[in-house]
Amino acid sequence: MIKTFHTGGDRNLGYLIVDDATKKAVVIDPSYDPTSIADFASANGCVVTYVFNTHDHPDHTNGNNTFEAITGVRALKFGDVNPLSGQTVAGGAVFALGESSIRIIHTPGHTPDSICFLIGNALFTGDILFVGKVGGTDLDAGARAEYVSLHEKLLTLPGETRVYPGHDVGVTPESTIQHERETNPFLLRSDVESFIELKANWAEYKKEHGIE
Ligand SMILES: [Fe+2]
Repeated sequence: MIKTFHTGGDRNLGYLIVDDATKKAVVIDPSYDPTSIADFASANGCVVTYVFNTHDHPDHTNGNNTFEAITGVRALKFGDVNPLSGQTVAGGAVFALGESSIRIIHTPGHTPDSICFLIGNALFTGDILFVGKVGGTDLDAGARAEYVSLHEKLLTLPGETRVYPGHDVGVTPESTIQHERETNPFLLRSDVESFIELKANWAEYKKEHGIE
């Protein structure tokens, strides 16, 4: 079960994902609304086992302390070690969640520490991939890293993989890899130079194409 929370901020999205068999749950980016997420989890008998951040930007991490105060679960981001198991949050790491698992995919670009989470066929993309857009970067090394992360780590996933981004900035809150592959203007760019060119001219592109 996946519950999406519109937490506030800049249309930030937080998520609670529950392993139905065991009621063990993971929270991603509680951000501006940790209390609602913790309340929902306890009202539904969920045992929050992990809290993760997609990256270390304050609009994604600012609910961590409140969430930990309520639930006792400390948020983990890229490079952190889970104090209970000793497991490090690193690319390729797999965290058990009842009968489900959480695979960490390191996707640098928007930030060097950006990570995505694959749980079943649900992919939580933070600020690297949005519906119809991609994460903000510089127009140099960050953009190049993001291009590689998108094409080599995310677009290689099955088309039916569901995409749950860190902000609700598209025409729908969620999408699929296939839909983004076919419609996201940044992903339709066939090489990194034209990807960067679109980033540089995004304001004009949006105006031309009536994108908000
Ligand atoms: Fe961010």
